[in-house]
Amino acid sequence: MADSAPDVEKYLQAQSAKSTLRFLTCGSVDDGKSTLIGRLLFDSKLIFEDQLAALEADSKRLGTQGDEIDFALLVDGLAAEREQGITIDVAYRFFATDQRKFVVADTPGHEQYTRNMATGASNADVAVILVDARKGVLTQTKRHSYIVSLFGIKQVVLAVNKMDLVDFDEAVFQAIVEDYRKFAAVLDGFEITPIPLSALAGDNVMQASQAMPWYAGVTLLEYLETVQVTEGLAEQPFRLPVQWVNRPDLDFRGFSGTIASGTVKPGDDVLILPAGTSSKVSRIVTFDGDLPSAGPRQAVTLVLEDEIDVSRGDLIGSASDPSQISDQLGVHLLWMHEEALFPGRQYYLKTGTRTVPCVVTDLKHKINVNTLETQPARKLELNEVGVGNLSLSERIVFEPYERNREIGSFILIDRQSFATVGVGLFDFSLRRAENVVWQTLSVDKAHRANIKHQQPCVIWLTGLSGSGKSTIANLLESALHDLNRHTYVLDGDNVRHGLNRDLGFTEVDRVENIRRVGETAKLMVDAGLITIVSFISPYRSERQMVRELLDEGEFIEVFVDTPLEVCEQRDTKGLYKKARAGEIENFTGIDSEYQRPENADLVLHTEAETPEDSAAALLQFLAKLGIVQA
Ligand code: ADX
Repeated sequence: MADSAPDVEKYLQAQSAKSTLRFLTCGSVDDGKSTLIGRLLFDSKLIFEDQLAALEADSKRLGTQGDEIDFALLVDGLAAEREQGITIDVAYRFFATDQRKFVVADTPGHEQYTRNMATGASNADVAVILVDARKGVLTQTKRHSYIVSLFGIKQVVLAVNKMDLVDFDEAVFQAIVEDYRKFAAVLDGFEITPIPLSALAGDNVMQASQAMPWYAGVTLLEYLETVQVTEGLAEQPFRLPVQWVNRPDLDFRGFSGTIASGTVKPGDDVLILPAGTSSKVSRIVTFDGDLPSAGPRQAVTLVLEDEIDVSRGDLIGSASDPSQISDQLGVHLLWMHEEALFPGRQYYLKTGTRTVPCVVTDLKHKINVNTLETQPARKLELNEVGVGNLSLSERIVFEPYERNREIGSFILIDRQSFATVGVGLFDFSLRRAENVVWQTLSVDKAHRANIKHQQPCVIWLTGLSGSGKSTIANLLESALHDLNRHTYVLDGDNVRHGLNRDLGFTEVDRVENIRRVGETAKLMVDAGLITIVSFISPYRSERQMVRELLDEGEFIEVFVDTPLEVCEQRDTKGLYKKARAGEIENFTGIDSEYQRPENADLVLHTEAETPEDSAAALLQFLAKLGIVQA
């Protein structure tokens, strides 16, 4: 033991002195990614004996490679993946050689999982893009390359795999390389290193291939061991998104989080954003005691010299080179959900430790991944990348992704399901955000409502066409009028003749239709009016959005719940007949969805009662709320 101790020391020292390369592998299903990673892990002798035994047994049982070891099984760890034959999540693997330590993100090739690819790409230095020598460059290869480039990776290995299956033919390799270079020519600063290999047999992975004497370049491992990576997170300005405020007792107050970029030491000047207050770091506290300095990806608690207000979601950063603040931003978006992205619809935006509601105010264009050309877009479908503007309900701290990969990215979350539906990169703040300010008016909503002696609100009638919304709205307005209330009715058919004349009935248009009507209703409430809105408004998401536009208690959702059969039988406008005959497309209830309210304030069943009864019930409900006197 005694004489082996210095060796251990030396070994540990050598390990910690080694640089770490983070790389990402991507390719289509069956391109051999898992086999390649398994091969790297196996050849670098980082598999333990028991894992090896299990691997041999599994390989025999599944028989994927005859009696040989199937390296992919080593990587495709999850049972579900083995069964389906696809990898389903980002898996990080670690291995090391004498030169370097490696973290590899194995990301699934299956089309619907670009999301995992983006996650892997956002913190990798190098991408290994696999192409099957028999198939060449596919749309998927191009899509992955574009995303890799978008997420700031400049160094790319074009790994042309399965060369054994094309007789190690140089011409096949060269043709693929040429094809790829042509495609990638417009990708900014892309440095491509093409390597012909066979992951299965190990050719040009770690050992130079005997079978391809025509190739004089590096093996994959040589490349990974020697590639120069551009400056890392440590060289960037210091940023710490605050995860929580640590206050165990009155004597201690620290701000905890994981350092996103840069380094920090006691005495450093810091700025707290968005508030803009400044202070100095006095201590860096961790479980293992105070640190003299800390860097990227380290979880720390900072103690500041001054008693200032800092909360979760704030950013503590370098005072000499601060982040920016904005609520209107130009962005790139990668959409990752089956249900398309619509401009006008609200999502949650999460960046760092901050989550705020946002709307894509306009979609400028999307990118055709095959040609890398831009094309006009009114929505973004699964896996599409687009460029647009975001409007946030509060100002956030951000940085262009180009400057900071950690602070510069965000995800979009669906407001109903809380699923992650998109990832995005901040490009810049829109100048108009700085130039449009709120005007303070002397007469406000309360004054306007007061002289009308009423409490303004929105009575939002939603339901199928023909459910009776307009009739009820009309009767209700008359009744309110008789009670000397100041009212206005916004009706779908009418508004669509004016303000919303340019909109049709696609999902995109309906979302915009409701957004505009919601904003109009808000203005009317501000004017002090009792506003009755009668729109199909088929989506929960937009009804929810309008509810949130208004103050607590101002939005009253009334579901006019009439069965489709009844509406269709009534067919007052003859539209159902036309829709059934295929003369009208996207008709609500027929070939366009209506999402029933789940928590309406009031439900009216018009098949069992007259419109007069419904209007009376609604009036009674308003009396209960104190909006009219009983
Ligand atoms: S919404 O879905 O965007 O809220 P809105 O209430 O403005 O719809 O307009 C609905 C009215 O437009 C219906 O009452 C009907 O008269 C008419 N209409 C015409 N085409 C359609 C369609 N495809 N789907 C639903 N309503 C339609």
